[in-house]
Amino acid sequence: MKTVHVDTGKPYDIMIDRGILDRCGEYVRQLTTAEKALVVTDTNVAPHYQWRILNSLEKQGIQAKAFLFPAGEESKHLGTISDIYKTLADFRMTRKDIIVALGGGVCGDMAGFAAATYLRGIDFVQVPTSLLAQVDSSVGGKTGVDLPQGKNLVGAFPQPVAVLIDPDTLNTLPDRFIADGMAEVIKYGCIKDAAFFENLEAEDALSHIDEVIETCVSIKRDVVSRDEREAGERMLLNFGHTLGHAIEKIYNFTGITHGMAVAIGMVLIARAGEVHGVTASGTADRIIRLCEKYQLPTTDRAGFAEMAQAAQGDKKAAGSRINLVLLKTIGESFILQLPLEELEAFISV
Ligand SMILES: NC(=O)c1ccc[n+]([C@@H]2O[C@H](COP(=O)([O-])OP(=O)(O)OC[C@H]3O[C@@H](n4cnc5c(N)ncnc54)[C@H](O)[C@@H]3O)[C@@H](O)[C@H]2O)c1
Repeated sequence: MKTVHVDTGKPYDIMIDRGILDRCGEYVRQLTTAEKALVVTDTNVAPHYQWRILNSLEKQGIQAKAFLFPAGEESKHLGTISDIYKTLADFRMTRKDIIVALGGGVCGDMAGFAAATYLRGIDFVQVPTSLLAQVDSSVGGKTGVDLPQGKNLVGAFPQPVAVLIDPDTLNTLPDRFIADGMAEVIKYGCIKDAAFFENLEAEDALSHIDEVIETCVSIKRDVVSRDEREAGERMLLNFGHTLGHAIEKIYNFTGITHGMAVAIGMVLIARAGEVHGVTASGTADRIIRLCEKYQLPTTDRAGFAEMAQAAQGDKKAAGSRINLVLLKTIGESFILQLPLEELEAFISV
């Protein structure tokens, strides 16, 4: 088993092990005094894994039931949170009880937010089952839901009692979601770890995915520990995301996945950095080759003006300025604050 210790305000361990799903109950028993657990999961994940989690909890004498929501981002709204609250209250869950988030990033974000707010906060465990959730969203304590006005506009920063990652769950994850997660994996190499990037170039990440997950969560752990509330360094995790989010917005969040948009965003911003002389030449081409290797697109027909316009409402925009994450070279990143009106000219290369 691989363990990555996270030393935030409330420390916890990320444990990566094949078969760890069946030991969820043991960890809940060790780490909490819970008598009841609500397993929050979606309609795609539940048929594969909910019984293994429910059985392992029941085996430890923890009364457990499942809350299922329709799979997909469309469910990530306050209506679902309200349904979770109702289930928690009807099940008479108390402050010492626990929520288990079993699923991808949508599930983790919602279950974590419900845990952060029900009875002013109860414990939760993350059991991420998508690659994106295993390498990224289950770590760092960001949780929340979308509003009609935009994504992730309501949320909280609770830390889980543990993150249990079972790489075997990726066996049932559709290929396009593997590619989606790989965009975030590539991002970690770009911003912090040249040797890791080289490893992704030289080998097939899926052949040693346990180590890949460990590297990604270690990088995220290091960044988040130094900046729990996204005041500075944590922004580096948004490499490729400002333009990526803009592209997702242009497509109204349909027809293009988050990972596809981030891949294009990473290429565009690396190319712009090269043209403006702040990024080593050849960087964008390496990112293109790596994205293509993992079935990710690297170009889009959206225009720069349209992208700049769509990026105006981004959360990374601080008033009249926008924080752009740029690379010096592969493995070294920095933040450039740019007046919003200069964004279009900066990316139009
Ligand atoms: N909190 C954070 O720090 C953070 C970071 C990045 C992304 N996010 C959020 O994460 C969400 C995206 O995450 P996602 O891509 O995991 O989306 P998701 O939860 O919708 O999962 C993707 C799809 O895969 C299915 N799935 C998941 N695991 C499976 C498995 N093992 N077998 C079969 N099907 C499986 C899901 O049902 C869904 O259809 C977005 O809402 C985004 O805002 C949060």
